[in-house]
Amino acid sequence: MQQEPDTLTVTDNRTNLTYTIPVSNGTIRAIDLRQIKTGPDDFGLMTYDPAFMNTASCRSAITYLDGDRGILRYRGYPIEQLADNCTFLEVAYLIINGELPTEEELNTWTCQIQRHTMVHENVKKFMEGFHHDAHPMGMLMTTVAALSTFYPNARNIADPTIRRQQIIRLIGKMPTIAAYSYRHRLGLPYVYPDPDLSYTQNYMNMLWRRIEPRYSASPVLSRALEVLFILHADHEQNCSTSTMRAVGSSHADPYATTAAAIAALSGPLHGGANEEVLRMLAEIKTKENIPGFIEQVKAGNRKLMGFGHRVYKNYDPRARIIKQVADEVFEVTGRNPKIDIAIELEKIALSDEYFIKRKLYPNVDFYSGIIYQAMGFTPDEFTVLFGIPRTVGWLAQWQEMLGDSEQKIARPRQVYTGVEQRDFIPMRERGVRELAEV
Ligand code: CMC
Repeated sequence: MQQEPDTLTVTDNRTNLTYTIPVSNGTIRAIDLRQIKTGPDDFGLMTYDPAFMNTASCRSAITYLDGDRGILRYRGYPIEQLADNCTFLEVAYLIINGELPTEEELNTWTCQIQRHTMVHENVKKFMEGFHHDAHPMGMLMTTVAALSTFYPNARNIADPTIRRQQIIRLIGKMPTIAAYSYRHRLGLPYVYPDPDLSYTQNYMNMLWRRIEPRYSASPVLSRALEVLFILHADHEQNCSTSTMRAVGSSHADPYATTAAAIAALSGPLHGGANEEVLRMLAEIKTKENIPGFIEQVKAGNRKLMGFGHRVYKNYDPRARIIKQVADEVFEVTGRNPKIDIAIELEKIALSDEYFIKRKLYPNVDFYSGIIYQAMGFTPDEFTVLFGIPRTVGWLAQWQEMLGDSEQKIARPRQVYTGVEQRDFIPMRERGVRELAEV
């Protein structure tokens, strides 16, 4: 029988029935499988996909990623071209609005972001309550969540003007909160945002100004930070972005939603990996210790942090750019000796069958921490440096999700593996159980 192209024919061997399911954009709709039943009482076929290894959860026009060919584009523009030619705020505008800004649009956008870099004085007081050694990601996450109480109208997510206002506020305030958390731990007075500085220069001024009227950032370092921010701005449906979409799908306000995304980012398998890479390099210490470390990884006792990616099965294009940025940064700061260990580690890993077979390459986190450390950041600040620019991607994806008529509250199904129905047993009849068995 001649079948329509762009369809999938499925024969259910349980019933010998055949179904024709449309294929579009290389996908079938999981809901189309629901018609496949063994009888009227059957719920219908579902897909089982732990960790969403093969499930597209949305349609998105923001970021294109081809993991096999090592391609990353924002709104169609190759990441390499954006990193070479744009400022971070220009890329932020592109990601949020879909087009590169004209000069006038960029000026207006920059002014709007700058106008919203200040935080309420009570936010400062709130942050003073953190312990002196509080982790910066914990401070960022909770302070962003607290903003929800400062802007109660933010919950009106159906109003595009109000939505836009929160997007601008969040992009503006993120570096301020991050810098305040940095200085809080050092016991330094907070530095207020300076509207005459660029996004990264202002951040550096809020971090590192001491008694001078204004911290004079090296143009090479502020540009390097700008490039790193561009590279981290979005990465389609990663763990934190999926969290942003899932939490946002319940129509929680954007501050609560962004705080949830920050929580997801903080894990060592996601954004927290950059911090772990530095710890790993510090532990390895010398090139001589690398083979022993690699053996531990191959034996399954350790992970080579900063290696591997769910989607990239080829070199991560961001890691390639970051490696170049490292050379420029070291010209100013002096060479971070950890780079030599990292390069050697990469060389050995990339020629080892274990890593080749599994297509494990350095990811964005492998080299970024080495640069951040050379610039003066401590490892526990690194994930914050990921979170500031990723806020742009989270918000763009959140906005896209809210405008997508196909999206509803995220609510996956499960395959129940527990006990079938059983009758209640009164306490006196339950006997004694070893604690370890509970
Ligand atoms: N070191 C050693 N072995 C690894 C590593 C690694 N870094 N990553 C994956 N593997 C092995 C893994 O053990 C498995 O081996 P086997 O087939 O023998 O069981 C195989 O490679 C496939 O790995 P997986 O865990 O099934 O892959 P995944 O897609 O579920 O995980 C990952 C992706 C990024 C969580 C993982 O590669 C990893 O844990 N990497 C280290 C942490 C890291 O650098 N994370 C940053 C990711 S990039 C930035 C971001 O998105 O946040």
